[in-house]
Amino acid sequence: MLLLSLQQTLLLVGTLLSTSALAAPSTPSHLDACGLLANKNVSFLSVTDVANCYQAVPFNSTRAKTTLETVHTLFKDYYVFTDAALNPRAPKPFKNEPIDVLKRLEMIGRTKYTSDFQFHMDIRATIEALKDGHASYDVLCYGAYAFVNRLALHAPVVNGTQQLRVFSDTQDNEYKGCIVEKINGRPAWPYMKNWATNVLGYSHDPNARLNIALATQVYRRDLGRFDTFDGFFATRTVPPESDAIEYQLRCEGASKPVKVFGEWIVQPTKEDIKFDSVESFVKNVCLAPEDDGSGHGPTPTPVLIPTPSPDGPHPGLDVQEFPGAEKILEGNGTVFYHLKEQPHIGVMVIHSFDIAPTEVEGKVVFEGLKALNSRNVTNLVIDFQANVGGYVELSAIVVQLLFPNKSPLDVLLEADQRVTKPLQQAALHGYKANNTEYMDASLLVDLKTGLPYKDNSIFSRPVTLTRNGRKNLYTERTALFVPTIPQSQVDVVKTFPWTNNANNIRVITDGRSGSATGMTTYFLTSEHNVEAFVVGGTAGEDMSMFSFAGASVLALSDIQQTYKGLGAIT
Ligand SMILES: *[C@@H]1O[C@H](CO)[C@@H](O)[C@H](O)[C@H]1NC(C)=O
Ligand SMILES: *[C@@H]1O[C@H](CO)[C@@H](O)[C@H](O)[C@H]1NC(C)=O
Ligand SMILES: *[C@@H]1O[C@H](CO)[C@@H](O)[C@H](O)[C@H]1NC(C)=O
Ligand SMILES: *[C@@H]1O[C@H](CO)[C@@H](O)[C@H](O)[C@H]1NC(C)=O
Ligand SMILES: *[C@@H]1O[C@H](CO)[C@@H](O)[C@H](O)[C@H]1NC(C)=O
Ligand SMILES: *[C@@H]1O[C@H](CO)[C@@H](O)[C@H](O)[C@H]1NC(C)=O
Repeated sequence: MLLLSLQQTLLLVGTLLSTSALAAPSTPSHLDACGLLANKNVSFLSVTDVANCYQAVPFNSTRAKTTLETVHTLFKDYYVFTDAALNPRAPKPFKNEPIDVLKRLEMIGRTKYTSDFQFHMDIRATIEALKDGHASYDVLCYGAYAFVNRLALHAPVVNGTQQLRVFSDTQDNEYKGCIVEKINGRPAWPYMKNWATNVLGYSHDPNARLNIALATQVYRRDLGRFDTFDGFFATRTVPPESDAIEYQLRCEGASKPVKVFGEWIVQPTKEDIKFDSVESFVKNVCLAPEDDGSGHGPTPTPVLIPTPSPDGPHPGLDVQEFPGAEKILEGNGTVFYHLKEQPHIGVMVIHSFDIAPTEVEGKVVFEGLKALNSRNVTNLVIDFQANVGGYVELSAIVVQLLFPNKSPLDVLLEADQRVTKPLQQAALHGYKANNTEYMDASLLVDLKTGLPYKDNSIFSRPVTLTRNGRKNLYTERTALFVPTIPQSQVDVVKTFPWTNNANNIRVITDGRSGSATGMTTYFLTSEHNVEAFVVGGTAGEDMSMFSFAGASVLALSDIQQTYKGLGAIT
């Protein structure tokens, strides 16, 4: 099975996503902070209740040392963007301060902590500072609760002016549509932009971060329809600074602005873990055995966008199909629409590339294009909004179905791979072995022949390169091997009016397209001259079409398992 691309990392250090309080018979007087949390009716939990419990978890220097060493090793020897982060040179609109992630981790190692929570939050802030959608740090016992604000915001341009407005309000939508003038006493728009710029990681483009801070629609595969996601400003997993956000709103028809307290609604993120004290919180929640029962090894998962649970505060709010379009066909990652008033236009929404088997979804794309053609559609809009990536193979299939008859190498992104001693050791046994994606050269193309490598020696004969002043070993340039579409499909699609015709295709993204989506957008725009439009961000400012091409998302435990399985670490 192929992964997203050559480079990788999502750190899932810590423990299982877990939680909820189950009330112990109440004798509140001798309960500690976690005991109080557990003892409280879940409907009335506050941010403070959760924060007090988290902060009461004692710092254990032995455990902290292991954690920090693991993270440091990972960023020193495995994370391929360490040097790039040190000397960011990405063109506008990407924007990044230089980050020496290793130095910052070393500084954390020299800091005296009393709170375990603070220690982990400092590591988290360091990783978030990389602004890389593939690197995140979540200590899942500190993700035991989610915090959803009463108000969700968006930033439409109305009459030529972009303003922050209330997108939805869980209390009867009383304030929906009101202009947000102030947040916590400060002018709202710069407050929000600073928050997205400074607090969020996820993308090198500050406006892509703004997009994910604000409310949007995401496709809910479980429900088979689009649904509202309130955005990361209104949906948190780390306890917010206070129990409520203070908003000053100006609503239509009102002569004076109104002050509204946006309380945080606190929800446990899981049901089945019990605790009644700090000690049992640590034991049952923080140190619970990891749930790796699936045994499928490193499976690419896109960066998660948490959606409020269906029984959360506002089920199905604002959900609507698009009245101007007829849905004609849908797969698990793709939905085809035909516009009613402009029947020459068809829309292909690809909301996810994380769909397997990729050939099956590829067939859906083929059938959908065929259906549009049979309805005499001549122009195609491809909507990648909220598509955070998935399989490179599927991305390659989509590009080939639109621009067939090209060399297979036209849908490959070349890269080299950092080579370390443990990687070399692991690669000795990695050829065609299961779950060893990045150490298995049978999945990589020898660019000299255009065929997959016949053994793993690409890893044993690396070259030394100096990048940003750091000398490291690298493989020669290669690419993930992707399949070509069958000639029978080529023969059909080449008769469509948009095939090999960039003028009849438009791409829409919201700047946060990840990995495989970024690659698709790259090939369509840069190789085939399709025009792309980016939705959102700040009116008048440039935005990126995609955020993080060329990497994949793996849990630390999966990386460790691969190395262990191949005898490279114990
Ligand atoms: C929690 O409070 C809600 C709302 O007042 C109530 O319906 C529910 O029965 C309470 N649950 C418990 C376990 O007391
Ligand atoms: C600290 O963590 C280590 C390693 O997990 C454990 O053996 C030790 O008991 C812990 N110390 C305390 C005081 O909990
Ligand atoms: C936009 O401007 C027009 C003309 O000034 C005005 O009538 C309308 O109410 C404005 N719309 C909004 C949503 O403010
Ligand atoms: C979609 O997913 C379901 C459940 O995983 C599967 O049964 C079905 O075959 C998939 N459909 C397509 C078109 O991939
Ligand atoms: C498509 O166009 C052809 C040729 O003009 C016509 O015969 C056919 O009825 C049209 N099909 C639809 C679904 O409109
Ligand atoms: C790899 O996994 C496949 C499918 O699970 C299995 O059939 C095969 O025997 C495995 N190969 C090795 C070398 O373990």
